[in-house]
Amino acid sequence: MNHWFKLQVCNGTTVDTVNIKPVTEESSDDFLYNRWRFIYLTPWPTNSTMDQNTKKQQVAAAALAYIKDDMIIGVGTGSTVNYFIEQLAQIKHRIEAAVASSEATAALLKKFHIPTISLNSVNELQVYIDGADEATKYLHLIKGGGGALTREKIIAAASAKFVCIIDDSKLVNVLGQFPLPVEVIPMAQSYVARKLVSLGGQPLLRQGVTTDNGNIILDIHHLSIHQPAELEAEINQITGVVTNGLFARRPADVLLISDGQSVKTIT
Ligand code: 5RP
Repeated sequence: MNHWFKLQVCNGTTVDTVNIKPVTEESSDDFLYNRWRFIYLTPWPTNSTMDQNTKKQQVAAAALAYIKDDMIIGVGTGSTVNYFIEQLAQIKHRIEAAVASSEATAALLKKFHIPTISLNSVNELQVYIDGADEATKYLHLIKGGGGALTREKIIAAASAKFVCIIDDSKLVNVLGQFPLPVEVIPMAQSYVARKLVSLGGQPLLRQGVTTDNGNIILDIHHLSIHQPAELEAEINQITGVVTNGLFARRPADVLLISDGQSVKTIT
């Protein structure tokens, strides 16, 4: 006897159900094996992952309101920004060009035929759209989970307005639960790590990662950051540090936060 199987297929956002009937009894065992193999190889997103993706999509769409005709805009890096790039593609004829904060973002902009330009060809960017790993209501951020912190910080510095887009899981009272990324010149790894320990942190090398600038990343665990602007400056003073992922001296100008229902704005 042949069995019908109900198979749920998920692409990370939506779930489809398909009915499949194997051709023979013998192949049904094969199919069962393959079905379980498929489920094993494709991690099933939890409700919270799906919710978080919805929130990211929602806040990415809200950022479009900050894009005006003929602007040259800065575009950050990460999964939230990837949703923004998808939305931007719909109105790409309205902007002049985009400056990418990473090779990954440049590739995605290219895929959507959104014109790119180098930062050295422009004086000032009118607006910069980027995500964050943590944010406070004072618009201080931790960034660099995607390893693009240095280019992101350069673009933020060169932008008139920095619009940061996050889902509500990223909003915190005190920064530091998310390990603080520090981009470091490779030969200075041990020296910088010792200095970071003396500041009270526990630096860990991000394994297998080389930044777009050819450097390594040390992630500092177990920090509770009560004075982000001071710590940002102190870490940047360590010889061998390229920059760290605290965005407090040049914070966001606008924080858009999605809770899945609506998007809240903090300025
Ligand atoms: C990359 C970043 C990202 O903005 C940050 O990691 C958030 O990423 P995501 O939107 O995927 O949560 O700083 O260097």
